[in-house]
Amino acid sequence: MELLDWDARTYDTLPLPHRHWGENLLARLPLVGTEAVLDLGCGTGRDTERLLDRLPAGRVVAVDGSARMLAELRARLPRAGDRLTVRQADLREPLRLAEPVDAAFSVATLHWLPDHDTLFHSVAAALRPGGRFVAEGGGRGNVAGVLRALAEVTGRDDEDRFWNFPDVDETVRLLRRAGFPDPEVELVPDPARLTAGEPLEAFLGTVVLGAHLRELPADQRRPFVRAVAERLPEPVVDYVRLRIHAVRR
Ligand SMILES: C[S@@+](CC[C@H](N)C(=O)[O-])C[C@H]1O[C@@H](n2cnc3c(N)ncnc32)[C@H](O)[C@@H]1O
Repeated sequence: MELLDWDARTYDTLPLPHRHWGENLLARLPLVGTEAVLDLGCGTGRDTERLLDRLPAGRVVAVDGSARMLAELRARLPRAGDRLTVRQADLREPLRLAEPVDAAFSVATLHWLPDHDTLFHSVAAALRPGGRFVAEGGGRGNVAGVLRALAEVTGRDDEDRFWNFPDVDETVRLLRRAGFPDPEVELVPDPARLTAGEPLEAFLGTVVLGAHLRELPADQRRPFVRAVAERLPEPVVDYVRLRIHAVRR
């Protein structure tokens, strides 16, 4: 399936819970300031920027599949120079870097990748021995209420078509197989309450339903998002986050 290109402009204007997901993850990544860090699914570069702030003598390799997200990232970080390498790549495919990195980081991207075995092998190949992998994404049960509303609108169950919301055991098994012997993985409910009406619809349309909207003619997109929003019992996106902290063998 062709990769989704995101509405990067709208994305950065939204009240994104991704901000605190990124902050929480950065707090779990000890850095002295000289390391090389891989940002997987960097999007518009909000956390890439925070990583660069913590790496005055280090560098970041920022990878994403969306040209529009990467254009926003470049605009955000015009002066990063050779401390920043930006790479457009499809993370469903194996990723190979020219040089190993000391850590890998990822916010809100894993659930868009159907095959975590491939991804975790890419991360292990990119990391030096002892390198740390901190990541988070949608886990088992993520956005279940939105999926129920979607099923009422479309008449089908769409979870497996676009998303991968794995559980802890499966993730631990795949991480071990890829070369992370003792991973910590947890599932954490983290519902996001939004303002009903236009703000909720802009959020759903940009952050959650982009893959669905791409399949619809332009004039049906807004009504589709509104129909899903109206079927939510309250203006809440019931996120359940899968958090990973792992060290490469
Ligand atoms: C919800 S955004 C998260 C962006 C950023 N990490 C943040 O927290 O704001 C998900 C990102 O994953 C990227 N993505 C989704 N599937 C991808 C794939 N197969 N290969 C590379 N990037 C992908 C999207 O382009 C998007 O930038």
